[in-house]
Amino acid sequence: MATTAPEDEYTAEPFLPSHGGLTALRKAAAECRGCPLHREATQTVFGKGDTDARVMLVGEQPGDQEDRQGEPFVGPAGRLLDRALAEAGIDPSQAYVTNAVKHFKFTRSGPGKRRIHKAPSLREMTACGPWLAAELNLVEPELIVVLGATAGKALLGSSFRVTQQRGALLEAEIHGHKERVVATIHPSAVLRADDRDAVYRGFVSDLKVAARALD
Ligand code: URA
Ligand code: SF4
Repeated sequence: MATTAPEDEYTAEPFLPSHGGLTALRKAAAECRGCPLHREATQTVFGKGDTDARVMLVGEQPGDQEDRQGEPFVGPAGRLLDRALAEAGIDPSQAYVTNAVKHFKFTRSGPGKRRIHKAPSLREMTACGPWLAAELNLVEPELIVVLGATAGKALLGSSFRVTQQRGALLEAEIHGHKERVVATIHPSAVLRADDRDAVYRGFVSDLKVAARALD
């Protein structure tokens, strides 16, 4: 009988390669079974970008489009993110883009059984953490941009509050390294907002803090 690890034992750790660069990491992540999220998702969506990227952007988890295409931030939230980055003065193609959780979590609802994003649990975020730690070790970005509450909690701890900590240059100990961090809202929050223009401007203004920190 197939057994599933108890929830408090979820971890990606045994799937990490002992050596190699981003290519080895991405290949190993494709086989990760560290938590149950791999079962329903199409594929692992690993980070994208170069080892020498100066800035690392961390989102929550892949969405429907990312799950199908296998790349982070290629759906509507990603298009908005690219536009906002460019406006803030950060070249999206120079950034390393990844997520706190590497598999899409969803529920099905409505007549067409559309796949609706579901927030990952703390255990799933913790389980997936070793991948992000390994990405940070290889890329060693000068700055991390945290996109939204989930990424914030994954990197800065459960007391993180995006409303209080956004738009400022922070210093934090992350996976044993001292890192410079700018937190902001998730681009999906802009798409969902009633007052989209104002929320978008706030998003760009936070990203400008990140752009200045890279000057
Ligand atoms: N939202 C995320 O947090 N990450 C993606 O890759 C896409 C949407
Ligand atoms: Fe592994 Fe992360 Fe996917 Fe869970 S979500 S199976 S830990 S890659």
